Amino acid sequence: MTQISQVEADKRHVKRSDYQSCTVAFIDCKKPGSHLKQNYSIIGPGVTSSSEQVINLPEAHGFNIGAAAMPTGITNNLHIHFTAEVFMVYDGEYTFRWGSNGENELVGRPGDILSVPTWIFRGFTNTGDGEGWVFTTLGGDNTGGVIFHPDIIREAAEYGLYLSKDNVLIDTSQGAPVPDEDACIPPMSAEEVARLRSYTPDEMRQRIVAHEDRDYRPAFIDRGLDGCGAEIAPVIGHGITQNRDHTPKIRNPHGFSMEWLRLQPGQKVSAFSLADKMVVIPRDAGLRVRMNDTGDVTADLGAWDTLSIPANVVRAIENTSDKTVEALIIVTGDHQKRPAFRGNVLEAAFARGHALDAQGYVADAHLIPKYGMVAE
Ligand SMILES: [Fe+2]
Repeated sequence: MTQISQVEADKRHVKRSDYQSCTVAFIDCKKPGSHLKQNYSIIGPGVTSSSEQVINLPEAHGFNIGAAAMPTGITNNLHIHFTAEVFMVYDGEYTFRWGSNGENELVGRPGDILSVPTWIFRGFTNTGDGEGWVFTTLGGDNTGGVIFHPDIIREAAEYGLYLSKDNVLIDTSQGAPVPDEDACIPPMSAEEVARLRSYTPDEMRQRIVAHEDRDYRPAFIDRGLDGCGAEIAPVIGHGITQNRDHTPKIRNPHGFSMEWLRLQPGQKVSAFSLADKMVVIPRDAGLRVRMNDTGDVTADLGAWDTLSIPANVVRAIENTSDKTVEALIIVTGDHQKRPAFRGNVLEAAFARGHALDAQGYVADAHLIPKYGMVAE
């Protein structure tokens, strides 16, 4: 097993107060109605076009995590992504739009998660009362940047803003010379825009796991043990759940899995290791993550903090608060993740009648042929 030091764990625990916004990340940053967007890069650079953007944790994870916040009425304009773009609404009300001219829309509220297909135009507006908060997960270490809607590129030029072919924002109002046309990303033609696939609202709803849709079920082999029984609700891909009845609603390759984890007051997930990097983003305060076999390294997570746990580090998760706590669990890769619980946990689970089947899912131990028992 890999050991982690407290210093290293502290570096990988990005507190909400450590998030640093940038308001000049994109080509539409001077457009009235879009100029107050706050862009955050928490893990990886995301798609920022600004060298001023602070990245809390630059280490490659196979995905990028960022966030957006903006005052009521402010809009993030239509653009295309080449890899998955997933919106996780933590606060406020955001209206997401998509299509050649943003003609379709759906409203996202706290707890809702939307994965927008690649190669379609999307944007969003804060239609709630306050600033709101949307975390974003982008697929891949290199997301390939974005393509803005041709109207946005033309309008930006009126404010002296250009986007170079290598994704650098050129601001002629700051003294930069107007770049040659062939040094900039050309606006897509009307024909090219018309050839993009269209998604109906019904099709898009298949890519939303709304707060009220979540399918929470007991998730782990330790479910019968005292103080255990944590639940998971899948969102995207195959994650760490050991419940064979779980089916993720969103299943096309993203390069990561995403699940909600729910712990009742005092409840815990027993110590396990995982072969992949795992990120935890709680909605509520109170989660304590203990790392290493001895549990000597601790991270106490506040609401909306981000913790990245390296591969092959033993971790146990406990709700130390007197309220139910939910957290997103994001793990690198599209494969089924296999949490490896410690031997003493598996033995205690077996004594309570639970064992893992050959696929790594929890089953009644007496139903599994002895020769098929998973010994890990
Ligand atoms: Fe985006």
